[in-house]
Amino acid sequence: MYKIERKVNLAPNIYLFDVLAPRIAASAKPGQFIILIADDYAERIPLTISDYDIERGTVQIVVQASGASTQKIVAFEEGESFKDFVGPLGRYSEFLDEDLEELKKKRYLFVAGGVGTAPVYPQAKWFKEHGLSCDIILGAKSKEFVILEEELGSVCDNLYVCTDDGSYGFKGLVTDKIKDLYSKGEKYDVCVSIGPMIMMKFVCLTTKEYNLKTIVSMNPIMVDGTGMCGACRVKVGDKTKFACVDGPEFDGHLIDWNSAMKRQSQYKSADSVRKIEPHV
Ligand code: NAD
Ligand code: FES
Repeated sequence: MYKIERKVNLAPNIYLFDVLAPRIAASAKPGQFIILIADDYAERIPLTISDYDIERGTVQIVVQASGASTQKIVAFEEGESFKDFVGPLGRYSEFLDEDLEELKKKRYLFVAGGVGTAPVYPQAKWFKEHGLSCDIILGAKSKEFVILEEELGSVCDNLYVCTDDGSYGFKGLVTDKIKDLYSKGEKYDVCVSIGPMIMMKFVCLTTKEYNLKTIVSMNPIMVDGTGMCGACRVKVGDKTKFACVDGPEFDGHLIDWNSAMKRQSQYKSADSVRKIEPHV
């Protein structure tokens, strides 16, 4: 059993959990995910790790209640325990393998959207811990959906908050902010974009115009997260990859977005019947 040490309501229907899982906390790296099974009757839900604390032995996840399984997860309270918490799974972010001196020469831009903001935090935190700088664009529907602003602000050089309705920060989509920065002469070497599929697709279309290499996280198309179901197949260039074992991070400019999004929408219709939902 995996005890919930802390639960925080970050935004409407969005909750942060610190879960006691010392072995996972000791080996987790930015970019990886866990599988959560809430109780004996629950589905397997893959969730990207949003932080980990080796000393406290906790792993942090952020969950958006959107269907039966995630509603069940967010109903758990501090002091209660989840049945299973498996990980760390998937490959860690590719920059971890890069030479630190080479990495220092590159300008990184993280583009976080909605609940996808959570998995950006451990990546930017890793940059800060290794003496590297980065900028972050954080997009949300409106002010009440902006999450982890303080945490992200503490690990980057510049944090640009945008809201679709202009209720807070820059008014516009994250792609509008990328264009705004480039129009002002900013330039980056690598972009890492994590958020809803539609956002990642349009970020890639935008960054292609600037010849800006872009890494995306394909967690949203995962189902069982083990390499067994085949649901997370994604075309990357001329190769077929599994998001859960070959990813979740891939070169976004090589992804066949139309087939990936079609696949995700097929699961959505299945969810409504079988009450199964892919990653949130
Ligand atoms: P949202 O719909 O509020 O969108 C967040 C931001 O994305 C918006 O504020 C906007 O700036 C940008 N965006 C949306 N549509 C866009 C478009 N067409 N063009 C350019 N930018 C656009 O996000 P949400 O409701 O929090 O998203 C939930 C989704 O996030 C879920 O479907 C889940 O699968 C996904 N998610 C992905 C990951 C991941 O690892 N990729 C992790 C967690 C959640
Ligand atoms: Fe089932 Fe990857 S999620 S094979």
